[in-house]
Amino acid sequence: MACAEDPGLFREDVVKRGQDTEHLKVLLRRNAIERRVRQMGRQITRDFRGQRLHLVGVLKGASIFLSDLIREIRLEVSLDFISVASYGQSTRSSGQVRLTKDLDNSIEGLHTILVEDILDTGRTINYLQRVISQRKPRSLRVATLLRKSGRRVKQVRPDYIGFEIPNEFVVGYGLDYAERYRNLRDICILELPGDVRPHSQAIHR
Ligand code: IMP
Ligand code: MG
Repeated sequence: MACAEDPGLFREDVVKRGQDTEHLKVLLRRNAIERRVRQMGRQITRDFRGQRLHLVGVLKGASIFLSDLIREIRLEVSLDFISVASYGQSTRSSGQVRLTKDLDNSIEGLHTILVEDILDTGRTINYLQRVISQRKPRSLRVATLLRKSGRRVKQVRPDYIGFEIPNEFVVGYGLDYAERYRNLRDICILELPGDVRPHSQAIHR
């Protein structure tokens, strides 16, 4: 397996316990992620110097990114979480997004950053930008750890982007396939047998 050279990671165990035939190929190593998240935190600190900041993480995928990012921000900062799901029973998402968990606290008058794990078609962030804007934040920016090439349906321009990645299905560092692999420290490309690509029904945020 492509990940076997990194024994400290228990990546092999995670795969075996799941499905023998799934393969993981490292795309972004933990050190690179750590460095980039630190840079993003510094950039955000500079951009909002002297101001109070509010982070809104999109459950569940962004929870690990957010927990690392917030510790790299040297400002007075609060956080909240929001959760969404896609409508649709078919193997492809219908593209409609609905709210499954709203914010706990008002964001009125707060400089707010929406923190997401990955930007793919753009539907999720586009929807959440609209929802959050209605709550009258003082400002609203978007930070995404990953931006996938291709597949864009909604135009979204994130203010902070960790990495541009190829149009592959990735797991780890919060990102899952059918709720698995979120605990991997590296971000890996998930290869399924026969090159079957994970479809949106299996995507849990
Ligand atoms: P979008 O609405 O198409 O931009 O998709 C964003 C959501 O789909 C993310 O919040 C993820 O939960 C999920 N997603 C998209 N691509 C991947 C992937 O490669 N791995 C895991 N989850 C993904
Ligand atoms: Mg997500």
